[in-house]
Amino acid sequence: MSDYLTTLRELRERALMGGGPRRIQQQHERGKLTARERLALLLDDGSFQEFGALATHNITDFGMADQRYPGDGIVTGLGKINGRRVAVFAQDFTVMGGSFSEVQSHKICRIQNLALESGIPLIGLNDSGGARIQEGVRSLAAYGEVFQRNVLASGVVPQISVMLGPCAGGAVYSPALTDFVIMARDTSFMFLTGPEVIKAVTGEEVNAANLGGPLIHNCRSGVAHFLAANEQAAISLTKLLLSYLPQNNTEDPPQVAPYDPADRMEESLNNVVPLSESDPYDMHLVIDAVFDRDSVLEVHSCYAPNAIVAFARLDGHAVGIVANQPAHLAGALDIDASDKISRFIRICDAYSIPLITFVDCPGFLPGVDQEYHGVIRHGAKIIYAYTEATVPKISIVTRKAMGGSYVAMSSKQMRNDLAYAWPTAQIAVMGAEGAVRILYRQELSKAADPAATERKYIQEYRDMFFNPFRAADLGQIDEVIEPRETRPRLIRALEVLRTKVQHNPAKKHGLMPV
Ligand code: HXC
Repeated sequence: MSDYLTTLRELRERALMGGGPRRIQQQHERGKLTARERLALLLDDGSFQEFGALATHNITDFGMADQRYPGDGIVTGLGKINGRRVAVFAQDFTVMGGSFSEVQSHKICRIQNLALESGIPLIGLNDSGGARIQEGVRSLAAYGEVFQRNVLASGVVPQISVMLGPCAGGAVYSPALTDFVIMARDTSFMFLTGPEVIKAVTGEEVNAANLGGPLIHNCRSGVAHFLAANEQAAISLTKLLLSYLPQNNTEDPPQVAPYDPADRMEESLNNVVPLSESDPYDMHLVIDAVFDRDSVLEVHSCYAPNAIVAFARLDGHAVGIVANQPAHLAGALDIDASDKISRFIRICDAYSIPLITFVDCPGFLPGVDQEYHGVIRHGAKIIYAYTEATVPKISIVTRKAMGGSYVAMSSKQMRNDLAYAWPTAQIAVMGAEGAVRILYRQELSKAADPAATERKYIQEYRDMFFNPFRAADLGQIDEVIEPRETRPRLIRALEVLRTKVQHNPAKKHGLMPV
């Protein structure tokens, strides 16, 4: 064998070993896989083509000349997932904590460019201590290059970030710019500044889990969209999520062969809404009954549980679901739910995924805290996102559609294509008690028996508005249907709407109330 080939093979061998056997052992002891082990789980066997495996940095400050590893702490390339092409990178914590260098940036930018030009999804497996401190401003500028490409690719190709280690500083900004963030339980963390810096600056004492652990970002901050039990589950989830998404914004999402009868009536739905209007019920029961069996993938399931957003399939076609959840806060819309819903609508619209909305909402959540934190601005995002979305949109009012929530939650005026209501629907400007107290204030103050008079007017108001028939008379509801008919109705409606074409006025971009 020639010397050239021997050298190449030796270098490749070294690249496969990342930071070396001791570091790999430490990585395993932390319950983490190496970058290459993760890629092997993610990609179809034999599909990975690596680029830049031998790249190294040329920094000499801080003794860096002795810390050169082929690949420089990141593995990048192209591969396939279930036969579909993807671009991938996996940071290698065994090399200087996966810290982000100029070389890492060149390697990521290269596959970002390829992903954008070829119209294929980009998946990042993140495990990095942030900007490589020894490289100073080089690594900061290098991050900027990656962020820039994240933004340019946004809405063109799906971008998924899988968090598999302690990610700090710049290592969390790039994921925040992507479409989905998946965190592995126990081993992943995300923070801009870690517990020690926070203690020094603000005096607050907090540990890594309570600052930026998976539960915090999935349930509280909303930074993460999925919580996986471990690394393997996070990687499986990535593959599942991709199955609902198209390769890029010019293609349709993949279709699966229908396996659940399109004409299936679900009798349980006729009794799902409780007789007492103030009793809660779980909207998941409705969703699970309507969509293709076991096809529902909930997004942001722990964040703002008063709303539900999910991918699912109807007769094998991918759809996006937005729903109020009467089992939490009576389904009222608050700031977090508004964020969650509007973001999901935009993702579905970007990737040509039709939207199905289930409405049971008493309105926007009243409260000083909500007002101070801008529920007006945040709630307006829902109106903005629905109106702007040109994908097929269908709504079903299951119970309450009150006031602003009626308008915001995919009403006809939000350019909704078809509006259904169940006979249990209540479509009104506000609840009966509040309305009667405003409309009849004078009369009630003079009534001989104010309580009885109030009850009478409340009943009148209910009889008038607490049904879907007035809205149907006025054409605001296209059809009142039996709940059990919902699945076949939706499937037939989507069959027609699939070829819908709608354009927005030409503009540089709108000004969403962010
Ligand atoms: C260089 C780093 C590094 C970094 C970790 N290492 N982070 N080297 N630059 N940013 C090295 C460590 O020195 C160590 O090397 C090895 O990686 C493993 O790190 P440990 O600390 O032993 O691991 P662990 O205990 O698991 O802690 C991981 C960690 C911690 C939480 C990520 O290392 C840490 O806090 N790192 C610094 C995080 C940070 O503040 N980054 C800069 C953010 S600023 P040895 O050889 O000792 O084993 C930023 C600005 C970008 O990113 C802004 C863009 C807009």
